[in-house]
Amino acid sequence: MTTPLVLPTLLGRSVRLRAFTVADLPVVREATTDPVIPLITSVPARGDDDACRAFLARQADRLATGAGYAFAVAELASDRSVGHAYLGLRDLDHGRATVGYWIAGSHRGRGFARDAVRTLVRWAVTVPGVARLELYVEPWNVASARTAVGAGFVREGLLRSWQAVGDERRDMDMYALVPAQD
Ligand SMILES: CC(C)(COP(=O)(O)OP(=O)(O)OC[C@H]1O[C@@H](n2cnc3c(N)ncnc32)[C@H](O)[C@@H]1OP(=O)(O)O)[C@@H](O)C(=O)NCCC(=O)NCCS
Repeated sequence: MTTPLVLPTLLGRSVRLRAFTVADLPVVREATTDPVIPLITSVPARGDDDACRAFLARQADRLATGAGYAFAVAELASDRSVGHAYLGLRDLDHGRATVGYWIAGSHRGRGFARDAVRTLVRWAVTVPGVARLELYVEPWNVASARTAVGAGFVREGLLRSWQAVGDERRDMDMYALVPAQD
């Protein structure tokens, strides 16, 4: 039987990582119109409100099934959500967890990803069984690469034709953080 996970609330300098609620629909709605986010996440492209609610329900399901911890990234001062941060545990039996994140377009360039990913990582390395955190970044995505490096990830190499993004296979840079070494 799967043991449901309990989502902690994590505090950074400018963000709070917490569970999504229905009040976070606006940030999901905005993400549906982003040119990148729906291609690399389960955010529905140009989804209507029902599709956005289904996205929120899927985040809760991930906890219930033990698949991973899905956090809303909320601005600390207002608690308004600005994005999403995720720790995936599908490979936890092998000591590996994956990190993912996005910030909605209107909230970018203000350090939210930097703070959110650092905050996520600080906690993630304490999750029992995690020996390695992994993250895949397209080589063009400088903002994401800087976010990863700023949180302590190290670029390990290029994975050619690693995954489908929309209709195309794309190369990905693999970044990893090994708590025992980094
Ligand atoms: C990548 C993303 C999360 C960055 O979010 P953000 O809140 O704007 O990032 P921050 O303001 O915290 O900046 C983080 C770093 O990226 C840099 N950065 C931000 N925007 C940048 C841009 N357009 N070009 C180059 N660097 C950029 C910042 O200078 C900072 O680096 P530093 O700490 O070395 O100074 C956001 O652009 C996004 O959601 N993109 C679409 C989804 C995505 O790519 N997710 C990651 C998948 S691997």
